[in-house]
Formats: sequence, C-alpha cells, structure tokens
Amino acid sequence: MLKGSRTGLRARHDDDIPTLRTELYDDVVNSARAEVGPWRPITPGSKDPRFVVDDTAHVDLTFSVVELAGGALAGTATVWGIDNHNRSAHVGLMLLPAARGKGYGTDVVATLCHYGFVVRGLQRLQIETLADNTAMLRAAERNGFVREGVLRSSAWVLGAFVDEVVLGLLAQDWQPNAQA
Ligand SMILES: CC(C)(COP(=O)(O)OP(=O)(O)OC[C@H]1O[C@@H](n2cnc3c(N)ncnc32)[C@H](O)[C@@H]1OP(=O)(O)O)[C@@H](O)C(=O)NCCC(=O)NCCS
Repeated sequence: MLKGSRTGLRARHDDDIPTLRTELYDDVVNSARAEVGPWRPITPGSKDPRFVVDDTAHVDLTFSVVELAGGALAGTATVWGIDNHNRSAHVGLMLLPAARGKGYGTDVVATLCHYGFVVRGLQRLQIETLADNTAMLRAAERNGFVREGVLRSSAWVLGAFVDEVVLGLLAQDWQPNAQA
C-alpha cells in the first residue's frame, strides 16, 4: 500500500466495487461531472470496466483509497495515460460522499504525486477538472499544481457546456510534504 498522512492507496478488492458503483457512479450528478461523459445505468455485477481493474493494463492504473485509521474504503484514484517516452501521466480521484471535505483529497493527490514522480520516475503530472470544482482545484494547487489553461466549453455536463481547467506539476517543482 502507498501511504499518505491519513489515506492509503491499495489495489482494488472485489468487494469495493458495489460501494463505488452505488455511491459514486449511481450518483448521476457526481458521475456526469467527474467522468465528463454520458451516464447510463449499469446492471449490478456486470463486467462494465469502470471500477473493475485490469491488472494487465500498464497505461491506466487504478487504486482504491482507504482511510489509514481503520482501513475503510474512501474512494478511487487513478494514474492514467502513462507515457513512458514523454514521462508524463494524468491523475484523478473520486471520494465517497462521507470522505469529502476532510483533507483526504489533498492527501491522495500528494500520494499520487509520490507514485508518479518517485515510484515511476515521471517528469510531468496533469489534472483536468471542471472550472467550478473548487475542491479539486484546491487539492491540486495545495500540492503545487499550477493552472496551465482553460478548455473553454469543453465539457457537456447535464445540459450545459462547462469550462475545464488543465493543471500541471513538474517533478522539479514538486515539494513533497509541502501542501501550501
Ligand atoms: C474533489 C475531491 C477529490 C476533493 O477532495 P476533498 O477531500 O473533498 O478535498 P479536501 O478536503 O482535501 O479540500 C481541499 C480544499 O478544497 C476545499 N473544499 C473542500 N470541499 C469543498 C467544497 N465542496 N466547496 C468548496 N471548497 C471545498 C477545502 O476547504 C480545501 O481548501 P483549503 O486547502 O483552502 O483548505 C472530492 O471532493 C471528490 O471526490 N468530489 C467528487 C468527485 C470529484 O469531483 N472528483 C474530481 C473529478 S476531476
């Protein structure tokens, strides 16, 4: 397990999947905002790949987020689009509703940075989020990510076009344990 200060990132367990589906995916608003794609119903137990992890995939990696105190499931996190030539990747996360607003998101971003920069030797990490996702923007910026641009009206979210913000962090600018 990768350990932050209050959360850990471990492999997906089968019994995480129903909770993630119910609390994240079946919340249509959260799902539409976080995935920036069309929500559709998924039959319980189906092999839809959203929360099912393929261990043979090397480009997109998925972790389950857990609380270090007690080990309760807190959400899901990804390092995706790993490009070993340009040494870059994207990171993202979704926390269960009860786990939000407690500083866990900021902690998980820090652990994803550790994984990307230290474990994988990447040079650049990127986050994309909706321009009104204050919590995600702040969790990224507290870890040193800087806003690099705005993709105007790039996301169709439940009836309206919304801007997305692109944030980036370079290895040489990353300061572990310095969440500003
Ligand atoms: C976005 C998300 C990962 C952030 O994680 P979090 O644990 O809730 O955020 P934190 O508690 O670490 O807070 C980070 C900052 O955002 C602020 N914040 C938290 N929730 C907020 C909210 N609902 N509105 C405005 N600001 C908020 C905190 O005060 C904190 O600010 P500070 O650093 O100035 O003190 C989490 O809320 C989440 O999973 N949301 C739903 C899914 C989602 O949007 N995922 C991202 C898709 S790109």
